[in-house]
Amino acid sequence: MSFKDQVVLITGGCSGIGRAAAFKFAQEGAKVFLADLSEKAGDELVEELEKTGTEAAFARIDVSDAEDVERMIAECIQRFDGIHVLVNSAGILGPRARTERYPVEEFKKVLEVNVIGLFNCMQAVLPHFLSKKSGNIVNLASVAGLNAFAGHIGYSASKHAVVGMTRSAAVEYAKHGIRINAVCPSFTLTPMLESAMVNDDTNYLDALQNAIPMKRFGKPEEIADAIVYAASSASSFMTGHTLVLDGGLMTT
Ligand SMILES: NC(=O)c1ccc[n+]([C@@H]2O[C@H](COP(=O)([O-])OP(=O)(O)OC[C@H]3O[C@@H](n4cnc5c(N)ncnc54)[C@H](O)[C@@H]3O)[C@@H](O)[C@H]2O)c1
Repeated sequence: MSFKDQVVLITGGCSGIGRAAAFKFAQEGAKVFLADLSEKAGDELVEELEKTGTEAAFARIDVSDAEDVERMIAECIQRFDGIHVLVNSAGILGPRARTERYPVEEFKKVLEVNVIGLFNCMQAVLPHFLSKKSGNIVNLASVAGLNAFAGHIGYSASKHAVVGMTRSAAVEYAKHGIRINAVCPSFTLTPMLESAMVNDDTNYLDALQNAIPMKRFGKPEEIADAIVYAASSASSFMTGHTLVLDGGLMTT
């Protein structure tokens, strides 16, 4: 699965799954453009990637800001002369609360980042992909986009939307040489999962882990392998797909 001379843009690329994907694509020879909120983490990661011989760059952006996203696409094209793959990994979990207590402002914020943000990124890159008649988008959805996630109505709504947007856009662009797929992990060991533990409530994480038939959380590298597969020629007849990596959770 060589990505030699290909340019991969990863939103949310400075942490967790996006970060792991950056290293996997780099290993496969890609040039990597990271986009995230944190300038410091971005600069440090570019340095780390460059030490491995990879060409890398970073832009500080907020995916929910359409102007930031336009600038991200322009900077990536200017720096690396194009984009082959967009990985939409930027996302937030939002609070854990039962629906009657879930603050509407938090609900809106989760949708603003996970839904509008991802929409902004797809919308901004598609004209470039159309002009080349090729391109590949991998959206980070979740098993929470296919099934219930009690206590997280905002996140659940947002990830169901990501699955819907992936399927609809995949059908719109299939005949234009553009593939769009979603990767749907269950609980994966990243800062986002750690943030789900409220007030040192380790019982909550234990319960999540116990619900997984494999009795362990996913590793970011395992999800990154699936992202690389979805973006590669090894999956050339796959589009609009939801690739589930869940340790067996969805089959219970
Ligand atoms: N960790 C899990 O258990 C899990 C499970 C299923 C799906 N996912 C999804 O995978 C993706 C990556 O999650 P993760 O676990 O690596 O999380 P993470 O918190 O480790 O990383 C998310 C990254 O997104 C960035 N980000 C957040 N808001 C942003 C914004 N407005 N603009 C730009 N960047 C922003 C953060 O700064 C961070 O670097 C998310 O979309 C998440 O919903 C995660």
